Amino acid sequence: MIKTISSKLLKKGMFIHELDCSWMKHPFARNQFIITEQSDIKKILDVGIKSLKIDTSKGIGIGTSKTQSAEQQPTKNNPLPHQPSRKKTRKDARKIKDHAELAISNIMADVKLGKQVEMGQVTPVVDKMAESVLENHNTLLGLSRIRNMDTYTFEHSVNIGVLMMSFTKSRGMSQKIIHEVGIGGLLHDIGKTLTPPEILNKAGKLTDDEFIIMRRHVVDSREILLKTPGISQNALDVAALHHEKYDGSGYPDGKKGDEISDIGQMSAIVDVYDALTADRCYHKGQDPSVVLKRMLSWTGSHFNPALMQEFIQCVGIYPPATLVLLSNNYLAVVIETNQQLLLPRVVCFLNTKTNETIKPKVIDLSKQDIITVSSSEAEQKWNIDPQKYLDII
Ligand SMILES: [Fe+2]
Repeated sequence: MIKTISSKLLKKGMFIHELDCSWMKHPFARNQFIITEQSDIKKILDVGIKSLKIDTSKGIGIGTSKTQSAEQQPTKNNPLPHQPSRKKTRKDARKIKDHAELAISNIMADVKLGKQVEMGQVTPVVDKMAESVLENHNTLLGLSRIRNMDTYTFEHSVNIGVLMMSFTKSRGMSQKIIHEVGIGGLLHDIGKTLTPPEILNKAGKLTDDEFIIMRRHVVDSREILLKTPGISQNALDVAALHHEKYDGSGYPDGKKGDEISDIGQMSAIVDVYDALTADRCYHKGQDPSVVLKRMLSWTGSHFNPALMQEFIQCVGIYPPATLVLLSNNYLAVVIETNQQLLLPRVVCFLNTKTNETIKPKVIDLSKQDIITVSSSEAEQKWNIDPQKYLDII
């Protein structure tokens, strides 16, 4: 039965039939879903939804829960809903990323065996990714810097999903598109399942013949996805166009300029950005700010210049989890980017002059006039894991 209830009465296990707001404004990837986390309820309250419709045939109704009465209201000692901490949000995001990597590794194993891609394996993962990106894209973006060389292809796939979702979100595109490019990102290199491992994992430069074989993964990705029921054109574009270049020097089709769709042009940017910032078995990933500078010098040839600027707006000059040296000689880790790209929100923890560690302190550089970022710093130079500092704030 469909019932209209106050959003204050929401609880885990209820099935949302309709949110009383336009689909564009709420932070969920779907209009209808079951509430599985307390944080889902918080999101609904946070966007100001006062009432909504639940379907009691698909989930619990009011007063069904043994642990919570329908009349229960938030009190000082028992606030409803529970406010998730930043630490919990990061933990959740890490879980989402792990699930996504597991899903893509399973899908790739299936495709290797000649099976079809099942959208049912991808959609729930992308739903969760979309929720996280829509809430705060910095959280998943920060995690995209964690690298494990053995699982490069899976991590790269998840990162392309996250970056494409963040990029489309920051360009104000619809949730439908955000979702579609997330799927496209996860599956964009699915054709690599057919690339011989000795070429895929070769340390060092490929020979011309090997490169021809390597390039085939794009055509294979497109063919595999064309056979996937329910795949969208935007998802296909991410897979089919991510190695095309703006000046026509890319592959497989050598398309140029507007012959490459908007989504295709965006996927070329995020693919190079992620590949250059990643640690590989044969080289250390470069610092994001260095990569962005290099990529800027290739705009007009490799990338659409306007889109490149928008991408920098999206990830920031100093993306989340970057280690930076501040003008007051403190070392800090970027927590979030700001509108002012050179002045992110950071947590500082080490006085490099005295070599003394301090209690981690959060500073929003855009909200003060004294301290600026002097440089981004290599993690290995300081032997510091930025994630550690993101976890303690
Ligand atoms: Fe690729």
